[in-house]
Amino acid sequence: MDWGMANRMAQLIQSDGRCLFMPIDHGYFQGPTRKLEQPGKTVEPLLPYSDAIFVTRGVLRSAIDPRNTKPIILRVSGGTSMAGEDLANEGLTTSMEEAVRLNVSAVGISIFVGTHYEKESLLNLAKLVDEGERYGIPVMAVTAVGRELEKRDARYLSMCSRIAAELGARVVKTYWCEHFEKVAQGCPVPVVLAGGPQVDTEREVFDFVHDGIQRGAIGVNLGRNVWQNPHPVAVIKGIRAIIHENATPQQAQEIFEGAKHGEKVEVSSKRTS
Ligand code: 5RP
Repeated sequence: MDWGMANRMAQLIQSDGRCLFMPIDHGYFQGPTRKLEQPGKTVEPLLPYSDAIFVTRGVLRSAIDPRNTKPIILRVSGGTSMAGEDLANEGLTTSMEEAVRLNVSAVGISIFVGTHYEKESLLNLAKLVDEGERYGIPVMAVTAVGRELEKRDARYLSMCSRIAAELGARVVKTYWCEHFEKVAQGCPVPVVLAGGPQVDTEREVFDFVHDGIQRGAIGVNLGRNVWQNPHPVAVIKGIRAIIHENATPQQAQEIFEGAKHGEKVEVSSKRTS
């Protein structure tokens, strides 16, 4: 791996081999998503606990302080909306020249396997990888399901993740599912977990993040279940402890409860490798 690519990957994936990416890109097809109406304000208190943020160039330029931020994963696919006919019909929205100008650590693109636009989205990924490799910029592929949340099972997600890796993605973002080891083991590049729509309790988030990590995910790219929670900083502290300190879901819950009440809870089993 060339120096630039290796350096960017190291900015994203920490020395313990794990990562916590914070996505605030949802507006590119959803508009002002609940609690993300002012993305700069939403993300500011979460930055100290995030290893990178996933964002479009518009929000990056307008809402993120270039002097005080984290590594950037630039969302470079889009062109569809919740009001349109088909979320899968995405194209590339941002050039590699722009990604270089913005000094990003990676670019991110959705693929829509099994849809009418499967081929276009996969060829977009392949083209982006060709350009990214030329400049030493890794590509994160997002295995998108659009409105069809029921697609999220091991058979489908392992197929999507493997295809993304075969086409050259350096990191794959996919959903947690039961038997997640089938997804992780079938994918030769690191896999991170998305959160999906908000679930009922933070404990459910701690449970699935912990399960996914145990079964081979290296971290998360998880947004709504953090910043749509009434206590976003407390949630991200719990998730961070699972990822970087090997906390159990119960320990993460205690960290969450403590943070909610302004207390600090220590986890003894900090990762060393
Ligand atoms: C939205 C995305 C998000 O980055 C991804 O879905 C993760 O966010 P969440 O945890 O809210 O699902 O790709 O376009």
